[in-house]
Amino acid sequence: MSVFMECSALFCWKINHRMNTCSQIKAILWLGIVVCLFTLIKSQATDDPLLDVIFITDAAAKGALCLDGSPGAYYFSPGFDDGVDNWIVYLPGGAWCGSVGGCLEKTKNPRGSNINAEPTQLALPFLRPNKTINPDFYNWNKVFILYCDGASFMADIDAVDPETKLYFRGRRIFTSVIEELMATKGMANAANALLAGDSAGGLATVLNCDRFRSFLPNACRVKCYTDSGFFIQAKNLPGTLATNYFAPIVAFHELADYLPKSCTQRLGAGLCFYPENVGGDIQTPLFIVNSDFDTYQLVNFIHPNQPDEEGWKNCTSTFTGLRNCTTNQLQIIRDFRTTFLNTLEGLDDNPSRGLFISSCYVHDIIYTPGSWQGTPTFQNKTIQQAIGDWYFERNSVQIIDTEHSSPIRC
Ligand SMILES: *[C@@H]1O[C@H](CO)[C@@H](O)[C@H](O)[C@H]1NC(C)=O
Ligand SMILES: *[C@@H]1O[C@H](CO)[C@@H](O)[C@H](O)[C@H]1NC(C)=O
Ligand SMILES: *[C@@H]1O[C@H](CO)[C@@H](O)[C@H](O)[C@H]1NC(C)=O
Ligand SMILES: *[C@@H]1O[C@H](CO)[C@@H](O)[C@H](O)[C@H]1NC(C)=O
Repeated sequence: MSVFMECSALFCWKINHRMNTCSQIKAILWLGIVVCLFTLIKSQATDDPLLDVIFITDAAAKGALCLDGSPGAYYFSPGFDDGVDNWIVYLPGGAWCGSVGGCLEKTKNPRGSNINAEPTQLALPFLRPNKTINPDFYNWNKVFILYCDGASFMADIDAVDPETKLYFRGRRIFTSVIEELMATKGMANAANALLAGDSAGGLATVLNCDRFRSFLPNACRVKCYTDSGFFIQAKNLPGTLATNYFAPIVAFHELADYLPKSCTQRLGAGLCFYPENVGGDIQTPLFIVNSDFDTYQLVNFIHPNQPDEEGWKNCTSTFTGLRNCTTNQLQIIRDFRTTFLNTLEGLDDNPSRGLFISSCYVHDIIYTPGSWQGTPTFQNKTIQQAIGDWYFERNSVQIIDTEHSSPIRC
């Protein structure tokens, strides 16, 4: 500020000697500053701290690199008071890539590159340090790992094609961040820990859940929370073509060796990327939050056998678009729900598992405005209460919205 005042004084002096309008100019300059500050404050939506990007130490030597070869990175918000030994590690979404072209495309944005990573606030209510908004986890350590590997933190291919220069190393990013947290941030003393994520990060949470647990043998409570990560194959969904969305991704990233053997021994590796085929093998308690009308799955995974791709997109992409669906398309959407619930039921009966299945027409429930502590509630619980009750074992939480057989707006 003093630099500015000196500059403006100089500026005024110059102006003064020419046209004697210094006070007007000064007023305009101050107005400018006020507007600037106001914009700055507004762009920072909350009082939460702005977190620096922390690049993994020696990321290149460890090979913990994004698709484009930039270093893996994370944000860290330290715990406080009686939360200092409690940890949430969050894995965000951002789809996958299953070809050279698709992965090269990703390198142009944050889902394939950390080159333009910037300081941020963690906007997700679940990760905020505000006790009113986040009563169960507000004072925990929070770690948000940037997703830039295109394969749900699962790939680990040593070789780098000299032509494409693409790296497939998400697994090393995950491992390196956890090891760094243990060595330098106190996670080795974790008492409570929760691996969580949404969408591709929700799937990453399922697939990395037991591995996360294995890093923390002395913790008293380690659990995993997946939001909109329960992608189903839906191969018997009437009126649709049976596809295996993940097969090309699993093959391209050579993931077979990193998927549970109990699954790959009986099914193709591509099928072992579906939680329905590995969920029963996961030992660590898992909380599944999902819509049984998951929009992302309906739009991207489901292909009606009457080929009308544009019509299907128009019908499924938004809640208002549902008005434009044909009777046949609406039937597929309702049948998707039934298939989803049947698939979920096909998992073994595990009392430690939590469920919060809504009929909201959404993907990424935890991001849906208002849903965290507002509507809809199911069995009188908001998601915020449901996660807390399940994590701390205050109640068993196995909530399925049985009321709505058609999608609802949330
Ligand atoms: C926490 O959130 C509540 C509700 O939005 C708000 O009124 C309060 O000012 C926040 N507290 C802090 C310390 O940011
Ligand atoms: C999809 O929606 C667009 C824009 O509303 C419209 O122009 C187009 O005809 C629709 N296509 C089909 C197949 O319904
Ligand atoms: C639905 O149809 C109406 C008119 O029939 C059209 O204006 C609107 O763009 C369509 N919406 C979508 C999402 O396709
Ligand atoms: C939900 O809350 C209302 C009012 O607080 C109560 O009447 C109702 O019994 C509750 N329902 C369940 C399922 O707990």
